[in-house]
Amino acid sequence: MKKVFKAEKISDNVWWVGASDWNVRNFHGYLTSRGSTYNAYLIIDKKVTLIDTVKAPFADEMLARISSVIAPEKIDYIISNHAEPDHSSALPAAVAAIRPEKIFTSVAGAKTLTAYYGDLGYTPVKTGDTVDLGKGKCAFVDTKMLHWPDSMVTWYDRDKVLFSQDAFGMHLAGSYLWADMYDWSVLEQEVRKYFANILNLYSEKVIALLDSLPGLGLDIGIIAPDHGPLWRKDHEKIIGLYRDCAEQNPRPKALVAYATMWNATKCCAEAFADGVRSKGVEVELADLNVCDRSDIMTKASLSGIIALGAPTMNNQVFPLMADVLNYLKGLRIKNKLGFAFGSCGWSGEGAKQIAAAFEEMKIEQPCPMKQVKYMPTEADLQEFFNTGAALAEQLLAKIK
Ligand code: FEO
Repeated sequence: MKKVFKAEKISDNVWWVGASDWNVRNFHGYLTSRGSTYNAYLIIDKKVTLIDTVKAPFADEMLARISSVIAPEKIDYIISNHAEPDHSSALPAAVAAIRPEKIFTSVAGAKTLTAYYGDLGYTPVKTGDTVDLGKGKCAFVDTKMLHWPDSMVTWYDRDKVLFSQDAFGMHLAGSYLWADMYDWSVLEQEVRKYFANILNLYSEKVIALLDSLPGLGLDIGIIAPDHGPLWRKDHEKIIGLYRDCAEQNPRPKALVAYATMWNATKCCAEAFADGVRSKGVEVELADLNVCDRSDIMTKASLSGIIALGAPTMNNQVFPLMADVLNYLKGLRIKNKLGFAFGSCGWSGEGAKQIAAAFEEMKIEQPCPMKQVKYMPTEADLQEFFNTGAALAEQLLAKIK
């Protein structure tokens, strides 16, 4: 059955022809609670151009949206801003339907796309290169590592649209194309989660890109990312939010995340959290049995204190915590005060491995790790309370 989908016009000569993945919940290990979109765009100029594609299962949807504007075989160029398969795995289907004259991508993009799909005939471009579309032109800027080595953005001068691929995006499927039609609290929540889980380790590159934006002299009308809604106004809000995420400044909040077997570590976590709260600092307790790693990372990114606790099992830190440590290490959180704790019966590797992970992440640990045997005593719990209060005071002094 042929699918019926319509394109949506975003400016005089540009159409959104992407796809909504309403029910995706696992995006390479990231819990996408509100689904996502794979945005692709069609420029109707003398040279008709498709910017990015979608995830392979949505190729028909994209081609149907294109067909609502123009026959796919009338497209002259494809520009691939980012080779990750959520934006490129429909490329072979698109190429088969379109038979484009040229496929523009970055130098690294040509290599990556070749590795995934074979040589479909790529024309590499770099920062400063332009492609004349007849009435307008597309200019390219390399944004290496935002998000992959191949990433670049494309500027279409005629309609003042910045096609920013992953940058300025978020995982959010919804009824509206424009960010200004959503509640800001939803956008902020999803941007912070997206940044923490996708871009946090490249924070310095994000800051460099944001610093370079004014120098590019772009009179931006629309920011059109590859995920989530588009920005036709309030550009300073999304740019400012990205900068705030990238700066990773400590906030007056504590995350206490724990795994527990027989409630000993949980009791320690609760006493520590109570100590934090006694100093007027906001605290959030998260049990790894019910809290996804990507939510832990988001909460960690918003907290000045990260207390992580786990039991020892089979002479190792409890597996749920090992997973979270591995994830946090990769995403390179910084500017935090750390506290490692746990419970054990005999060998006691759990809290030690958490403390070692903090050290590896260069996270300051003003209070020594604490581990109890089997169950905490009343004196142990008082000590956890005191440690929470002491760390809260240190955090407040740090951010004053
Ligand atoms: Fe949305 Fe890095 O791909």
